[in-house]
Amino acid sequence: TFMVATSTSTSEGWSSRSAFILAAIGAAVGLGNIWRFPTLAGESGGGAFVIFYIGCVFLLGLPLVLSEIFIGRAGQTDAVGSIRKVARDSNVSQAWSIFGGIGALAAFLILSFYSVVAGWVLYYAGVFGADLIQAIGAGDPFRSALAGESQAMIEGRMGDLFGNVGLLLAMHFCFMGATLFIVARGVHSGIEAAATILMPMFFVLLVGITIYGAIVGDLTDTLAFLFTPDWSKLTPAVMNSALGQALFSLSLGVAGLITYGSYIKGSDGLGGTAALIAVADTGVALLAGLMIFPVVFAVGLDPAAGPTLVFQSLPFAFQSMPAGALIGFLFFILILVAAVTSSISLLEVPTAWGIGELGWKRGTSATVFGVGAFLIGIFCLLGYNVLADVHPLGFWPLFADLDILDTVDGFTGKVMLPLGALLTSLFVGWRADRRMVQQVTGLSAGMFALWRFLIAWLCPIAVTIILVTGLFPSIL
Ligand code: PHE
Repeated sequence: TFMVATSTSTSEGWSSRSAFILAAIGAAVGLGNIWRFPTLAGESGGGAFVIFYIGCVFLLGLPLVLSEIFIGRAGQTDAVGSIRKVARDSNVSQAWSIFGGIGALAAFLILSFYSVVAGWVLYYAGVFGADLIQAIGAGDPFRSALAGESQAMIEGRMGDLFGNVGLLLAMHFCFMGATLFIVARGVHSGIEAAATILMPMFFVLLVGITIYGAIVGDLTDTLAFLFTPDWSKLTPAVMNSALGQALFSLSLGVAGLITYGSYIKGSDGLGGTAALIAVADTGVALLAGLMIFPVVFAVGLDPAAGPTLVFQSLPFAFQSMPAGALIGFLFFILILVAAVTSSISLLEVPTAWGIGELGWKRGTSATVFGVGAFLIGIFCLLGYNVLADVHPLGFWPLFADLDILDTVDGFTGKVMLPLGALLTSLFVGWRADRRMVQQVTGLSAGMFALWRFLIAWLCPIAVTIILVTGLFPSIL
């Protein structure tokens, strides 16, 4: 037998259902949507990737979102403790709580490089901010960006930044500092307050810049590129990266939604909430595509530019766009806002673990993990200059040529997230007490049956295939 906790073992909590939804959407929407998704869609040839990605989100991602929120809501404490409680109430081994620990470790590692990449965004926000100030000073606030700079100069900025250790460190430090500051303030006055202020701002900017892109850019080419599938481009490697991206973008496999779910006090239906998160996250990724590619196509740039798409191609494109200085600045502020509401969720996972499992104070726990991730991040950023020859997993063909940041990104994304997702689906699909799941999630009988098919059968099988083929591409 079990009881849905109404009183709580953690005193912290969201002040309302919409606060949780905003915070969870804030966690999901981040660099993954605005930097990684357009990059991958561009590299993978567009339409077929996008359609397969959407399938992954709703068939695999959404059931997992609901499962993680369920564990947190039922457990009411950090990820490890919450899984342990669900296991105990279901009379199964508490060793399942290991995947909460794997998740917390993955979140900690992702945070270390996430902050470095967000640091690049911060730098570009600074570049465009300075440009905008100059434009205003010249009495022409709506001029295009970076007047008088050659394409080589604009694109060279990224190389200059990567060679400048002090600057990289300063940006990484500022971003991690902001993340730590918010998390240390707590769930209500830190995370919830940040999400409540930043997410509405994010959506206004997103819609505004997308409309701008549609007006000044090339929307026809973009729609054809994003939504016309060429199925021959859907190779196993592309499917693999689409699933990995779906997990990353929905913040799955790192126990993030278990942790956020543990601060839910009410008993409103969780199914609708989970669907809202998945729809919002996917909508933002698609809007980001509709925001970025029209500008890229309008100037005749290559949509398959890769990771530099946002940092080199776009700044150059803004040079020939009306109001490019202003829009460029707003664009990087938009990414920054999205990144902060995600990085705080990454730091919150290990922080909650320290509080719940080690009995630390919030400030101590957040500081230990924030500073720890900052230090690991330093290695990531040195990988672009001083440590450029270091390939941490060089013995492993899959990761052989990767620099430090890409290694941490690749290992967490290709190994830890799918593993976390696999264990989550097995645990909730097969081990958790079914009546408890149905009661806590509030699903109708029909929806419950559908969800159970997806989580117990489709998820484990699909994620295993993708995990194995991802790790051992040679078997294909
Ligand atoms: N979902 C976030 C993004 O798209 C990244 C993230 C992953 C955040 C895992 C939390 C946990 O940027």
